[in-house]
Amino acid sequence: MSDLATFVRKLPKAELHLHIEGALEPELAFAIAERNDIALPYSSVDELRAAYRFANLQEFLDVYYACAGVLVESQDFYDLTWSYLERARTDNVRHAEIFFDPQTHTARGVEFATVVDGISWALDDARDKLGLTSRLILCFLRHLDEACALETLAAAMSYRDRIAGVGLDSGERGNPPRKFAEVFRRARDAGFVPVAHAGEEGPAEYVREALEVLEVVRIDHGNNALDDPGVVAELLRRRTPLTVCPLSNLKLCVVDDLASHPLKRMLDLGLFVTVNSDDPAYFGGYVNDNYVAIASALGLGKADLVRLARNSFAASLLPETDKARLIRELDAVSSPLR
Ligand code: HPA
Ligand code: ZN
Repeated sequence: MSDLATFVRKLPKAELHLHIEGALEPELAFAIAERNDIALPYSSVDELRAAYRFANLQEFLDVYYACAGVLVESQDFYDLTWSYLERARTDNVRHAEIFFDPQTHTARGVEFATVVDGISWALDDARDKLGLTSRLILCFLRHLDEACALETLAAAMSYRDRIAGVGLDSGERGNPPRKFAEVFRRARDAGFVPVAHAGEEGPAEYVREALEVLEVVRIDHGNNALDDPGVVAELLRRRTPLTVCPLSNLKLCVVDDLASHPLKRMLDLGLFVTVNSDDPAYFGGYVNDNYVAIASALGLGKADLVRLARNSFAASLLPETDKARLIRELDAVSSPLR
């Protein structure tokens, strides 16, 4: 393992931008497909992996939704979530905030309860067996209409104890945050913490709308915010965290190469940046791979990496006492290493 990888591996960290359906590795997808007697539109693990070449977000989403179609029983959602959590623990992830896309499943006739029960069961096991805490964030699919999102929110109301927040994902272009103003208003009123994907393929204006209309406390991605100094100023004023996903940006051609990734500029501007894996089964790496790849490409130093890990706890939905405890652990580990 390289020096850099060893250093990153030692840092306790939180992962705040992770779609559980995007942690479905091809091997597990085929195993679950077989036991549910569902045919994937690929003949083998190798053929599926070979399909992981995406020119944009939509090309990825087409494969991602096709693979999610194998998930039917609570056990499937358990196995998927557990496989991610075990893997994350080896990256020294101590806390994970996990997105899930219920509409992808309910549209196929899978009950909302089946999805949440399976995921929650694994989250409880991770807390007890791995010492890894978590929060669950329900994402509305922005390519669908707001009425469908409102139905999904209604289903989530009986799971207020299980679901901490609501988010917004799927195809961004042409689906602005304001399309979901009402469902986010109701979700906030019900106590769900609001976050949203914005500025991945969409313009800086979508980041502004997510802040001002949806009143989000975190922006997922946020790359294109840098195109508008006014939006950057607003992110700084609010101290809004950005959950940045370097390898995702590379795979989905949001950046041409990692050397031109905006993360260093974001840090230099004083933005509240975190590093995450997004859909690690599809994008060629888990969270530590993202830290290592972006640090190598941009020449980040150890102090930058510690800052990113500290931000990951500070930007989490954990209570302040838990944040402080994890940051003390990080400081204890990192100060002798620097
Ligand atoms: N962007 C939007 N929607 C998504 C993503 C993403 O990176 N991953 C899974 N759903
Ligand atoms: Zn995402």
